[in-house]
Amino acid sequence: MCGIVGFTGTQQAAPILLDGLQKLEYRGYDSAGIAVLDGSGIQVRKTSGKISNLVEKTDGGRNTPGVTGIGHTRWATHGAPTDVNAHPHISNNGKYAVVHNGIIENYLELRRELIKQGFHFESETDTEVIVHLLEMYDQGDVRKAILKTAARLAGSYALGVLCADEPGTIYAMRESSPLILGIGAGENYFASDVTAIVPYTKNAVYLEDGEFARITPDRIEVFDPSGNPVQKKISRISWDIQAAEKGGYEHFMLKEIYEQPRAVKSALEPRIRDGEVVLDEFSCSAKYLHSIRKIIITACGSAYYAGCASRYAIEQLCGIPVDVELASELRYSEPLLDRHTLLIVISQSGETADTIAALKEGKARGAKVLAVVNVVGSTVAKLADWVLYTWAGPEIAVATTKGYTTQLTVLFLFALSTAKRLGRIPEDRYAALVRALTNLPRRVQQALDMNPSIPALAKEYYRYRSMFFIGRNTDYAAALEGALKMKEISYIHAECYAAGELKHGTIALIDDRQPVVAVCCNREIEEKTASNIVEVKARGAEVIAVAFRGDQKILSLADHVLSVPKTETIFSPLVAIIPLQLLAYYFARENGCDIDKPKNLAKSVTVE
Ligand code: AGP
Repeated sequence: MCGIVGFTGTQQAAPILLDGLQKLEYRGYDSAGIAVLDGSGIQVRKTSGKISNLVEKTDGGRNTPGVTGIGHTRWATHGAPTDVNAHPHISNNGKYAVVHNGIIENYLELRRELIKQGFHFESETDTEVIVHLLEMYDQGDVRKAILKTAARLAGSYALGVLCADEPGTIYAMRESSPLILGIGAGENYFASDVTAIVPYTKNAVYLEDGEFARITPDRIEVFDPSGNPVQKKISRISWDIQAAEKGGYEHFMLKEIYEQPRAVKSALEPRIRDGEVVLDEFSCSAKYLHSIRKIIITACGSAYYAGCASRYAIEQLCGIPVDVELASELRYSEPLLDRHTLLIVISQSGETADTIAALKEGKARGAKVLAVVNVVGSTVAKLADWVLYTWAGPEIAVATTKGYTTQLTVLFLFALSTAKRLGRIPEDRYAALVRALTNLPRRVQQALDMNPSIPALAKEYYRYRSMFFIGRNTDYAAALEGALKMKEISYIHAECYAAGELKHGTIALIDDRQPVVAVCCNREIEEKTASNIVEVKARGAEVIAVAFRGDQKILSLADHVLSVPKTETIFSPLVAIIPLQLLAYYFARENGCDIDKPKNLAKSVTVE
């Protein structure tokens, strides 16, 4: 939701904090600020708007000298995105500064208590209670003040704390929000994720919930919630700095769309050996596998649509019934799952609050959890029984692209491997599907290359304010994700309908004011969707279809056809989505939208 960063060393802190915040801007971008400790105390600079405003205000950090500091980029929850509500927040005596990602659920009662004690509040944020609690509990020992403060907080937080009494020291703490420590040579860091620290160091320490760290230029000490020292392992970050840069593309989203052949290959290749799918990470016993009566897939947004799209492959190949549930619904639905249910949890970030809650609910009811996650060491990965990493590399654009296609890749691998282990798939079908999977990176590349007309198409259609997306079965799943892409970055209303449902009401809305995008890559039921194309055209709608290359039937019916290469029907959403991502991208570009940072959205939704 928000991004936090901290630095202590011998270099000037402000330029490093600003650089880190720029890398974290995808997490929140309505206001930003830094606090730097110089000889005369804590200097705070903050402003509403993007990090570029803060860069301007601080003259690239030059007017805020000091070698120790913390920074924040905000996605407003409590209080409007104003200068005053921007972090860091500072204590009344000017001794403490705090940055925070998360939500303090009991902030109203704490605020009332602190006001009674005589503390003065500047902002409307939940975060400000933290900095006043620190001042209230300060009796000359910062560690003790932090421990006492943490004991009063309910909710989720990753915190960065600066204290004027301790030059050269920053504190970091986490509870249900991501936080990573970076270990450099004579300088150390903390950040919400690795993208902010990877230009400076590849050595990282992952904090557990409840732990806090005291960080100086030469030392990182980690403590448990009772203040006892904890020995931490140093992990090596595998992402490189180029992966977090735009690399000549106009937007991260476009770069990430074009990275998909390589990303899908990274997810696939290590797991296919000598014609066999090898999922070492899903190391459950054969007895357990045979005991599974039901699979529930849960996730949010595009990750949920990845669940919808992979459901067909899992059900058809493994013969196990699959329910796909939104995590925000599952968590409150008293779900019927038990030890015979495998809960598959999908999340790019691994930090989505609703997804984590659904995972915990499933575990509490006895289900085993298999996570499909991109970010190594994330909360979902830590809580799951097994993790299949998607190896997509850092995804910066808020709208997921390679995150989604690598989730599909991993879920297809899971379907095939499980079907084989259960003995439910004939050898020749298995071999054909392994071949089809192996070909997917090439197919994705072809889907990217086949559609040079999309920018021109966007110029023709971008002014429409409403669209429909239709499809059946696997095509419906791809259409759902295509419509979400369009809505989220171009702000065009895009309603997705199972094509067969059109006649149950919505067809009344079809006319020449809304183009229809029809996904037709499921050859078994293509005839049916073709009939729906005829129906919407009869009502005046123009049709943009997505179909396998050379599909004469669809070519003869639709106004425009976006082609994709032929692939197995159950894997087809992975190629069908490629032109739909490009379509959304170019519609958004024509509409002048801020593509990488769509309004009101954040990359990682760590609050409910
Ligand atoms: C996708 O483009 C969205 N930004 C959003 O729906 C996202 O997929 C969802 O918030 C889930 O995120 P996660 O995969 O990190 O859990």
